[in-house]
Amino acid sequence: MRPFYLTTAIDYVNGSPHLGHAYEKVLTDVIARFRRQQGDAVHFLTGVDEHGQKVQQSARRRGIPPQQYADEVSAEFRALLPRLNISNDDFIRTTEGRHQRVVRRVLQQLFDQGDIYQAEYRGFYSARQEQFLQEKDRHPDGTWPELYGEVTEITESNYFFKLRRHQEWLVAYLTEHEQFIFPSYRQKQVLEFLKEPLNDLCISRPRERLEWGIPLPFDPGYVTYVWFDALLNYYSAVADRPGVWPAAWHVIGKDILVPPHAVYWPIMLHAAGLPLPGGILAHGWWLQSGAKMSKSLGNALNPLDLVAEFGADAFRYFVMREMNVGQDSEFTREQFLVRYNSELANNLGNLVNRTLNMTTRFAAGTVPAAGPAAEAEQELQTLWAKTRAEFVPLCEGFQFHTALERALGFITATNAYIEKRAPWKLGKSAAAADQELLRTALATMAEALRLGTTLLAAVMPAAVEKIHGVLGYAPGAVWADELVWDGRLAGRPVAPALVLFPRPAPPAAAPASP
Ligand code: ME8
Ligand code: MG
Repeated sequence: MRPFYLTTAIDYVNGSPHLGHAYEKVLTDVIARFRRQQGDAVHFLTGVDEHGQKVQQSARRRGIPPQQYADEVSAEFRALLPRLNISNDDFIRTTEGRHQRVVRRVLQQLFDQGDIYQAEYRGFYSARQEQFLQEKDRHPDGTWPELYGEVTEITESNYFFKLRRHQEWLVAYLTEHEQFIFPSYRQKQVLEFLKEPLNDLCISRPRERLEWGIPLPFDPGYVTYVWFDALLNYYSAVADRPGVWPAAWHVIGKDILVPPHAVYWPIMLHAAGLPLPGGILAHGWWLQSGAKMSKSLGNALNPLDLVAEFGADAFRYFVMREMNVGQDSEFTREQFLVRYNSELANNLGNLVNRTLNMTTRFAAGTVPAAGPAAEAEQELQTLWAKTRAEFVPLCEGFQFHTALERALGFITATNAYIEKRAPWKLGKSAAAADQELLRTALATMAEALRLGTTLLAAVMPAAVEKIHGVLGYAPGAVWADELVWDGRLAGRPVAPALVLFPRPAPPAAAPASP
């Protein structure tokens, strides 16, 4: 089995998780489940980023010690995972000993190698992004982009990591590895960024200004810059597990690609003599009225409200179907309801109900064996062959929204097939030919439902398991074998009904929406 190590960004614990965090977990989980279906040995890591100025500030506002604050908020992030049905293998907190030890070891190594030096620092800092800014980051009128929040100027003695000396290496690496960043247009942006000479990276904070961090191993008067600490989580979590590093993919949002993940991280690894990850996937933002949903802006949507109302499967389906990975999407409840009703309740849910109901009524609740395939059956089987052939490459290329569109297109075609065969009419006829056609129709719809939902298993694992269960079926271990159209359901007892996507209660005298 090929090892496939997959990570999410680790979330700042300066506020409750929102839709953007939930999306990133779901996207990464879908990739993890898809790779397991492909037979890879997946190791899936997620976690929280607990140090830094932003967390220290949030703790102060609450008037509690940062560790207590981090414990509370981290628990909230962790609790989100089972609610979203996330199949992570590990969860890392940057306050854990296993992480701190590796950060200090790598810092000491880089210091001993001469990659770190001490100097005076003068410059601008955004606590909101925990990022150093440069003159070129300002608007022409001198103001700072809203993304940075409050920007302060700092002057102090600090430690620096020699980024500049590895710049040519990074440019050469990215030029050679064209697929390193997904989507590929972002790789061009990184190369554009690298046309300017890099500044060395300030990796320390004097303790009198920031206590909440990992002390530098070579100078206890300082703590480590939060990004230098945080990026190392991907490695520290598996440093003791042979054969896992390097990661196949790091999944992150586009706001933390340049410079942290596309510049600092590859250079840190290269300087430390560690292999580079296979790639970095930068997804887009969920927006509310055109603005990035964020903890700092306070316009965030609680994903758990949607999960409580519609279930984890519907939530997962919606975010994966709606967002083209890499681009931004506006979140609206209206759009959520449109997809929920038309694609899940009226299309997939309807196929499930018809299959169970008609098998119960016309075949005493047992899937019959199909007779010879006529034109309508052949058409559906041809569409299946096409859908199946397209689906896997689409998922390999992270085009999940299109893959789901194809899978649901097959479900739509199956419903249309049922309309055409009209089993409720065949059921009234005693003619032998009609009875045979009825058995064929019932067997065909059950098989098409089994196959179509097999494609949906990575996105809606719980719903698909239930559907296979009511068809009296338990899939085998090899996913690819499950995609073969055959008569394996014949003779299986089906359940009489399954409510998967209940209609949401109409809003009770809803307040006028803006
Ligand atoms: O950046 N839509 O943490 P974070 C989509 N601790 N994704 C969003 C989003 C939105 N509206 N808002 C945030 C950090 N995200 C660092 C990461 S990794 C070594 C350290 C994504 O809590 C964001 O892009 O601000 C990032 O990938 C993740 O949520 C955590 O964001
Ligand atoms: Mg952020």
